[in-house]
Amino acid sequence: MAVAINDRTAEFRHIVTAAQRKQAAKPGSQKLLSDAQRSAATRGSQPRRSEFARHAAEIGRGISATMGKLQKLAQLAKKRSLFDDNPVEVNELTFIIKQDLSRLNEDIRNLQALSKRLHPKPDQEGENNKNILLLLQGKLGDVSANFKDVLEIRTKNIQASRSRTEAFVSTVGQHAHASLPPSASPLYSTPNRATPSPGADLISLNPMGGDQQLQLQMMEEGQNTYIQQRGQAIEAIESTINELGSIFGQLAAMVSEQSEMIQRIDANTEDVVDNVEGAQKELLKYWSRVSSNRWLIAKMFGVLVCRLLYPSAPANTDLFTPDDILPALAARIPSRTIRMANKTFKLNTGQDIPALGLGTWQSEPGKVKEAVAYALKAGYKLIDCAYCYANEEEVGQGLAEAFAAGVKREDIFVVTKVWATYTTRCELGLDKSLQKLGLDYVDLFLVHWPLLMNPEGNDDRFPKLPNGERDIIRSHNHVDTWKQMEKLLATGKTKAIGVSNYSKRYLEQLLPHATVIPAVNQIENHPALPQQEIVDLCKEKGIHIMAYSPLGSTGGPLFTAEPVVKIAEKHGVKPATVLLSYHLPRGSTVLAKSVTPERIKENMSLIDLDGEDMKLLNDYSDKLTKEGKLQRFVYPPFGVDFGFPDKS
Ligand SMILES: NC(=O)c1ccc[n+]([C@@H]2O[C@H](COP(=O)([O-])OP(=O)(O)OC[C@H]3O[C@@H](n4cnc5c(N)ncnc54)[C@H](OP(=O)(O)O)[C@@H]3O)[C@@H](O)[C@H]2O)c1
Repeated sequence: MAVAINDRTAEFRHIVTAAQRKQAAKPGSQKLLSDAQRSAATRGSQPRRSEFARHAAEIGRGISATMGKLQKLAQLAKKRSLFDDNPVEVNELTFIIKQDLSRLNEDIRNLQALSKRLHPKPDQEGENNKNILLLLQGKLGDVSANFKDVLEIRTKNIQASRSRTEAFVSTVGQHAHASLPPSASPLYSTPNRATPSPGADLISLNPMGGDQQLQLQMMEEGQNTYIQQRGQAIEAIESTINELGSIFGQLAAMVSEQSEMIQRIDANTEDVVDNVEGAQKELLKYWSRVSSNRWLIAKMFGVLVCRLLYPSAPANTDLFTPDDILPALAARIPSRTIRMANKTFKLNTGQDIPALGLGTWQSEPGKVKEAVAYALKAGYKLIDCAYCYANEEEVGQGLAEAFAAGVKREDIFVVTKVWATYTTRCELGLDKSLQKLGLDYVDLFLVHWPLLMNPEGNDDRFPKLPNGERDIIRSHNHVDTWKQMEKLLATGKTKAIGVSNYSKRYLEQLLPHATVIPAVNQIENHPALPQQEIVDLCKEKGIHIMAYSPLGSTGGPLFTAEPVVKIAEKHGVKPATVLLSYHLPRGSTVLAKSVTPERIKENMSLIDLDGEDMKLLNDYSDKLTKEGKLQRFVYPPFGVDFGFPDKS
């Protein structure tokens, strides 16, 4: 494509010299030019000719370079892909070529003017120059035509790319397709290719004007519309991905519900197997006792003989009836046990809270780690902790061990409490517990007791005055603590907030100021301290009760309470089972502390207490209330009236 422009001055000189020689050889011939004329001509014409040739050569080089750029543009313009990959490069090249063509046109005009100036009258050199100019104009005309072709190809490709994009978008989402506005862009109509009129002066072809100008404009518009539509397509893809994500989330939740259901079915099946085995054992025991009782055998034999001899005899013969056996047998068959692992209640936050939890108060160092890990691996889902228990670090080790064994953080419910020296610094209290437990968040954070102990006192947990009394800031309002608790929800460090040891009086002081209703009130609760007025108020306000010290705390002093023993015998279970089961029909979560693996396991199997059992226990509670003999086992000596009727 390179245009070769030859300087033919030497050739011209050679021809002139040859002609002169011929002329000189002829007899009587004269020189064409005198020496003076010749030297003047040589001096004046040489630079004029070389200036034209130099400019022409430059223009030729410029045309070649532009052709090279055009070839690159043609390659890019012909590319077909779903998305237009090099719009910036194409635009830049188009612009540069446009500039080149316009400059070259201008250069040729100037060269034409120069030639006219040098050769005002027709001569040989003027003719040569004209030929060179025509050659350059032709080459530039070719480049311009090719440029137009390339622009048309590009326009068509943009159209095709857009149709592909539209087809792609419509398959991604109908709504996205619907939202695409019908474009008025000229890109979507076939451009008219302007054919130069016959005989048109190629030199005057303006690459920036008319058709090409329109094409460039169309390309820019097309680019903008295309970028917009590409954005819409990406948005549609993103929203589809989001929808898919939420569908997968729902599927995952369904799968986890199913697996929980399967676990429950498994647990129930185990219960049934346990119960049948228990019934078999009881029947065998009963039979061995019956068979060793000769009088009873004789009695049964007599009944059979009577039935044979007098088939019409009434069923309720006083000799022996099935009623003699069945109640006795029933008393010996353990009631349906309920495996507590998966039983939950709903909190006012929407969270599920397990019905049974492992307590950690007074769980000795060296034992609590094992107890927590063992309980979680055995199926406990709730661990109750507190900063005040001074063992959260070891509880954290137990949690870590359970996680390492496959227990998942999201499947368990961790509770901790802000201690009284931190009730003006709740977030700090929570941070300290989280750090010790090795967790990012707890599921529930409680105000342990509604009071403030001197945060700057002589001890982190139990500051004392010089006289030995607890260092309490009596001017503190517990509602202020609750306001701090409410702010913690936004930190994500706890999923729910609640209170502990709140009497009816304290709740009534708090609730009118609460923006967030406490999710839980954790209180001492058992048949010897039913705290019914708190339970009823909490139920009314949607506050869940967590019952602590259900066995009467250390050593289980309630094991010997008369109705507890009676019900345990009736169901063939241990008193601990009766005391823990008492909270199920009350709709409360129960916390049982133990560091003994067998007990931890045993406490997981509770029973359905029937109406008669609950009446017995409630009558017991009423009797103690009436007699003023309610038993509160946990009451730290703060010297503060918390509003509990048995302590006020
Ligand atoms: N919010 C509060 O102010 C507050 C106050 C008190 C308690 N709590 C929480 O409530 C939890 C439970 O209360 P708690 O610790 O006072 O006492 P608890 O659970 O009523 O009784 C624990 C005692 O009973 C024993 N025990 C457990 N299961 C037994 C079984 N099946 N048979 C025989 N003995 C059994 C334990 O002994 P071993 O450990 O030796 O097995 C321990 O001595 C606490 O750990 C704590 O998390 C909260």
